[in-house]
Amino acid sequence: MWPVGHAFDLGPPRSLDNLNSHKVIDVVEERRCLDIDQMLDRLDLELVALAPVKTQVRQIADFLLLDRLRSCYGLISSWPGLHMCLTGGPGTGKTTVALRMVEMLKQLGYLERGHLVTVTRHELVGQYIGHSAHKTKEVLQRALGGGLCIDDAHDLFRAENEWDYGAEACEILLQAMEDQRDELVVILAGDKDRMAGFLQANPGIGSRIAHHIDFPDYAIDELCTIAERLLAEECYEFSPDGREAFRSYLRRRVNRPGFANARSVRDVLEEARLRQARRIMSGGQRRWSRHDLGRIEPEDLGSITEHN
Ligand SMILES: Nc1ncnc2c1ncn2[C@@H]1O[C@H](COP(=O)(O)OP(=O)(O)OP(=O)(O)O)[C@@H](O)[C@H]1O
Ligand SMILES: [Mg+2]
Repeated sequence: MWPVGHAFDLGPPRSLDNLNSHKVIDVVEERRCLDIDQMLDRLDLELVALAPVKTQVRQIADFLLLDRLRSCYGLISSWPGLHMCLTGGPGTGKTTVALRMVEMLKQLGYLERGHLVTVTRHELVGQYIGHSAHKTKEVLQRALGGGLCIDDAHDLFRAENEWDYGAEACEILLQAMEDQRDELVVILAGDKDRMAGFLQANPGIGSRIAHHIDFPDYAIDELCTIAERLLAEECYEFSPDGREAFRSYLRRRVNRPGFANARSVRDVLEEARLRQARRIMSGGQRRWSRHDLGRIEPEDLGSITEHN
């Protein structure tokens, strides 16, 4: 079940079965066997920008791998904190990183299954006493062996309403974060300021969060690179005028409410592909080249560039 083929046959974390204090560990070989660098490189490629986030993920990977290797020599420390808090605006890549994180934790042997269950307040908080506890326990059960990502986790607790059943969900969550910390990882996602308020109001949960990772909003150049990447994946590209129209749309849109970073880019491009199809199929022109079929023109971004 656990990865094999190492200088030390890595057992479960904290296992002393393979204790061999005379061997020497080749860290490059260990990383290779666990595919750790391949995984981190994939994250680098998959996500544009986010340099500080990627650095933090690498640091966590290094720390956990070393923790495993140390335990092979009998150098046992307390169970490393794995629960984390990912904060940032909408569409900045939090869920994507959460997915990669739990995969990595499985690869390193800290999680047995490595799947991610994503929920919001709605799935955890109920309508009467005992209902939240029941719902939360059911969700925790599904997440066992993997990660539980709670989107907009700050909404779980409503200090202004003493009859809110979110507090009950928080209690069960806290209990699981402590008692089942070697069986599942809790990932709280949401807005940075609101999350700070939530953790302050719930110090028990706050003190069990080992890693805080903040996702900055993307700059316009980064959003353009994300757009080019998404288009290329589907064999499209912007025409020079299309690129300029898209950039000018971003300039007007990024600071407006409702703009959701990379997710908005993805949505806009999907709409542009539909419009491109309409332009080509019903525009009166009969003959189109391969080049034409792959290009997004300003008119394909029509509604977004005109009205938003
Ligand atoms: N840096 C990036 N490079 C390329 N694509 C990205 C990047 N960040 C996000 N995306 C894409 O944008 C979409 C939204 O990302 P994701 O769901 O991870 O963001 P989120 O922060 O969890 O959003 P939300 O706040 O809505 O939960 C996904 O399709 C993802 O692949
Ligand atoms: Mg998300």
